[in-house]
Amino acid sequence: MKVKKICCIGAGYVGGPTMAVIAQKCPDIYVTVVDINEERIKAWNDENLDNLPVYEPGLDKVVAEARGRNLRFCTNVEGAIQEADMIFISVNTPTKTYGEGKGQAADLKWIELCARQIAAAAESDKIVVEKSTLPVRTAEAIRDILENTGNGTKFQILSNPEFLAEGTAIEDLMDPDRVLIGGDTKTPEGLEAMEALVEVYGHWVPREKILTTNVWSSELSKLTANAFLAQRVSSINALSELCESTEADINEVSRAIGTDSRIGNKFLKASVGFGGSCFQKDILNLVYISRSYGLTSVADYWEQVIKINDHQKGRFAKNIIRSLYNTVSGKKIAFLGWAFKKDTNDTRESAAIYVADHLLNEDAKVTVFDPKVKEEQMYSDLDYLNSRNKVDNRKLMKAEHCPYEACKGAHAVAVLTEWDEFVDYDWQKIYDNMLKPAQVFDGRSVLDKQKLRDIGFRVYTIGTT
Ligand code: UDX
Ligand code: UDX
Ligand code: ADP
Repeated sequence: MKVKKICCIGAGYVGGPTMAVIAQKCPDIYVTVVDINEERIKAWNDENLDNLPVYEPGLDKVVAEARGRNLRFCTNVEGAIQEADMIFISVNTPTKTYGEGKGQAADLKWIELCARQIAAAAESDKIVVEKSTLPVRTAEAIRDILENTGNGTKFQILSNPEFLAEGTAIEDLMDPDRVLIGGDTKTPEGLEAMEALVEVYGHWVPREKILTTNVWSSELSKLTANAFLAQRVSSINALSELCESTEADINEVSRAIGTDSRIGNKFLKASVGFGGSCFQKDILNLVYISRSYGLTSVADYWEQVIKINDHQKGRFAKNIIRSLYNTVSGKKIAFLGWAFKKDTNDTRESAAIYVADHLLNEDAKVTVFDPKVKEEQMYSDLDYLNSRNKVDNRKLMKAEHCPYEACKGAHAVAVLTEWDEFVDYDWQKIYDNMLKPAQVFDGRSVLDKQKLRDIGFRVYTIGTT
């Protein structure tokens, strides 16, 4: 079977860029991306490509080429489901904030809603593809809903986890390390559905990079990949603290171990802590699933990755407080960066949010500059923690549009995101306008420490002395 029309439910950080690339690479396939959020769809349709709801280098070009040709963004979910022969589910699956599994399990209510919508609208056979990160065996729940609430049409369910990293999403989609497709390998219909999706990716991905597995392996591989990546960051971050107590330098240690081909040199950068929508959520999922099967030791092992990450964020904040003579009350502290990594406007689980919250609890005045994150987003991230009321959050924290203004009159500058532009700032000018002793806390090890020290700054970097 050849896919002619694709529908993607969810126009977020995953659905938007992924569908834009599929449409660009497959001019013979008509792609419709739907979302219940009208404002988001409006932004995807904006003439001015600077207003796309997702910031990703290179995304604007891809959208410009495909939009209006074979790529469409709209809010007509039902219509798009009816037309399509393949439906991707790319809706959000945040960690539950209530009830059983609160704080650990994934909240699948949006997934279930999608499955019910698909079942109700479908008038012909469909291939349903799970794109969102989901706990293992979600495909079974989707199948159950589709088969029991549908109109008698047939469904094949595939798992096709996304491995793109934000900030490099377009590169990752264009030239992936691998594409993973899980399906029902035991029936001819299952194999046919998998082949249909292989053919879509086959438009631009070499066949040997397209892996097919059973559905459960595919689902678990996604959680495992993210757990391994996060574990590397927590491992290096744990050692960064040991480096600070000895005279070892974490960057030298990273370089030394990274040359071992069994370890590899990527993902060994010590930082203020990992963030993003996936790592924490996926590990919590893994922990929850392991516990639910009674595998306590397995659950405890992976949970430690999160604990070290929380420790790293807290340690960074505590270090700022200690260096400012154990009190930050009323003191201005400038944050450079709010996004969870550079080259994205996404702030989900960003370390900056937790460090800010810690400092605000101590009555600090935090001023934030981020090249891509909007002020409302910063406040909404802070409000979400529920540590204090909205009025106090707005009183204590301010967003600035200019980095030099953000740093003016500050006791300390903290780098929370590794945006390239921070390196090239006029640090002499920043120094001249700060209170003395002027301190810099580089949570990403991006600045030239010696240069800053020569100017007169006191500098703290993670994992070095
Ligand atoms: C190790 C280091 O590899 C080496 O660099 C260091 O100098 C000494 O310690 P060694 O213990 O000789 O070397 O063997 P290695 O190949 O690392 O295996 C260690 C253990 O891990 C073995 O029991 C091996 O069976 C096991 N292992 C290794 C696995 O169970 N799975 C793997 O994927 C790899
Ligand atoms: C991750 C996975 O990489 C991707 O494959 C999956 O599809 C989604 O989750 P993403 O969260 O977008 O992607 O970004 P990633 O580059 O993995 O970074 C995650 C966090 O780890 C960031 O906060 C980043 O700053 C941090 N990190 C990463 C480090 O602190 N040190 C490193 O060496 C690498
Ligand atoms: P991700 O990083 O997984 O892409 P996002 O939150 O960026 O997550 O995007 C998910 C999108 O899915 C949101 O824009 C949300 O409005 C949309 N969405 C959630 N449920 C539905 C639904 N039932 N129908 C259509 N869109 C939905």
